[in-house]
Amino acid sequence: MSEVAVIGAGYVGLTTAACLARLGHDVRCADVDAERVARLAKGEIPILEEGMPSLVAEGLATRRLRFVVGAPAAAHDAEFVFLCVGTPADATGAADLSAVEAVAHEIAPLLVPGAVVVTKSTVPVGTTRRVARWLAEAGAVTDVEVASNPEFLREGSAVRDFLQPNRIVIGCDDPTVAVRISELYRTIPAPMVVTDAASAEMIKQASNAFLATKISFINAVANVCEAVNADVRDVALGMGYDDRIGSDFLSPGPGFGGACLPKDTAALLQTAQEFGYDFSLLRGVLDVNDRQRDHIVDLVRTMAGGGLAGCRVGVLGLTFKANTDDLRDSPALAIAAALVDAGADVLAYDPVAGEAAAARVPGLRVVTDPYEAVADAEVVALLTEWNEFRWLDYARVAATTAVPRIVDARNLLDPAAMRRLGFTYRGVGR
Ligand code: NAD
Ligand code: UGA
Repeated sequence: MSEVAVIGAGYVGLTTAACLARLGHDVRCADVDAERVARLAKGEIPILEEGMPSLVAEGLATRRLRFVVGAPAAAHDAEFVFLCVGTPADATGAADLSAVEAVAHEIAPLLVPGAVVVTKSTVPVGTTRRVARWLAEAGAVTDVEVASNPEFLREGSAVRDFLQPNRIVIGCDDPTVAVRISELYRTIPAPMVVTDAASAEMIKQASNAFLATKISFINAVANVCEAVNADVRDVALGMGYDDRIGSDFLSPGPGFGGACLPKDTAALLQTAQEFGYDFSLLRGVLDVNDRQRDHIVDLVRTMAGGGLAGCRVGVLGLTFKANTDDLRDSPALAIAAALVDAGADVLAYDPVAGEAAAARVPGLRVVTDPYEAVADAEVVALLTEWNEFRWLDYARVAATTAVPRIVDARNLLDPAAMRRLGFTYRGVGR
C-alpha cells in the first residue's frame, strides 16, 4: 500500500482521496481552506455527492484518510502527490494554471527522492512538463517524476465513476513510473491506457470537448425540430440505437454548464489557436451553447406574452444539473439571472442550492418550497432536472399559478399530461 498526498479537497480531490483510501492506501488530503479541512476531519462533507459521507467516515475510522491544511503538510514523505486544484478559465478562455504552479512551488522542497507528482486536474497539453520545470525551479530533488492521470468522474456519481471507471489513463514519459501509478489502481478492473503525458492531457480535453459537441449537436437539432414540428426525443432515440452514435449525451436542454465542459472546450479551442489551428468546430459548439440559454429565456418571454418586465416567473432548479450542489457556470442560474435582468419578478426553488444562488444573483428571490415558487406565477420555468420536479402535484401547481404556463427546459414532463391539466406547455425541440 502506498503513501499518497492529494492536494485540493474539492469535487475531484475529495473523491480521489476517499476512493484511494478505500483502495487501501494511506492518504493525506490537503486544502488551503482551513474551515473545509476542519469539517472534513469531523466527517462533515461540504459537497453533495452520493456515497461520499460513508466513504469518508470509513477512511477516518480506519485512519487511512486524513485531512490537513496546506499542501506541504500532505506532500512531505509521500510517494505520490496528486494535484487536484482548480484550473478555471481565464479571461481569454485559456486555463488558469496559477493554483497548479503555486502548489508545485509549495511542495518542491519537501518531495522525497523517487516521489511522483501526478496532475489529475484538467490541464492543457504541455502542463505536466511545465510542472516538472516548476518543481525543479523551486528546488525539488532531481529524481522526482511527473505524470498525468486525468480524471473522468461526473459530479453526482463521482464515487461510482472513480471506482468503476470506463478507463484509466496514465501519461508519462517513463514506463516504470506508469507501472507504479497503475499499481495504485490494481484492484479496479478497467482498461488502462498508458501513453505519454501530452497524449493523456489531450485525451481528457478532447473527451470533454466531444461530450460538449454531442450536446450542442442535439440542441441544434432540437431547434430545427421545433421549426419543422418534429420531436427531438424520438429523433435522439432513433439516432442513439446506432452503436456508432450511442444514446448518451443526446438530451437537449438549456445547454451544457458546470465547471468543466464549457471551460475545457474553450481551453482546447485556445490551445489549437496557439499552435496555429483554427478549431472552428469548437467555436460553433460554444456558440450553440450560448444561444441555447437565450433560447430558453425567449421561450419564457414568448409565453409571458412578449415582455418580461414585471412578469412573475416561478423557477424550478438552479444547479447546473441534478444531484449536485454545484452552481458554477450553471445554465439554470444564468437563465434565472437573465430573467431578473429583463425585469421579471423571479421566485426560485432548488432542493440544495437556493441560498447560495441568491447570494450570487442580486434580485433573485429564493424559497424553500417548490409550490411557493410557482404560486401566482404567470410562467413556470423548469430549468434543472431534479427528480422531485417529476413528481410534483401539477394539478396543485396549475391551481395556484396565476396562469398555468410552463417552459420545461429539460423535457422532464409529459406534455400531454400537462396539457390535460390545463397547462400551456413548451419543451425543447418537441
Ligand atoms: P474545486 O474548486 O471543487 O476544488 C479545488 C480545491 O483546491 C478547493 O477546495 C481549493 O480550496 C483547493 N486549493 C486551491 N489551491 C490550493 C493549494 N495551494 N493547496 C491546497 N489546496 C488548494 O475543483 P474541482 O471541481 O475538484 O476541480 C479540480 C480539477 O479537476 C479541475 O482542473 C477540473 O477541471 C478537474 N475535474 C473536475 C471534475 C468535476 O466534476 N468537478 C471532473 C474531472 C476533472
Ligand atoms: C463532465 C463529464 O461528463 C465528466 O466525464 C468529466 O470528468 C467532468 O465533466 C469534468 O471534467 O469535470 P460534469 O461536469 O459533472 O461531468 O457533468 P455532466 O454530467 O457531463 O453534465 C455537464 C452538462 O451537460 C450539464 O449542464 C448537463 O445538464 C448537460 N447535459 C448533459 C445536457 O444538457 N445533455 C446531456 O445529454 C448531458
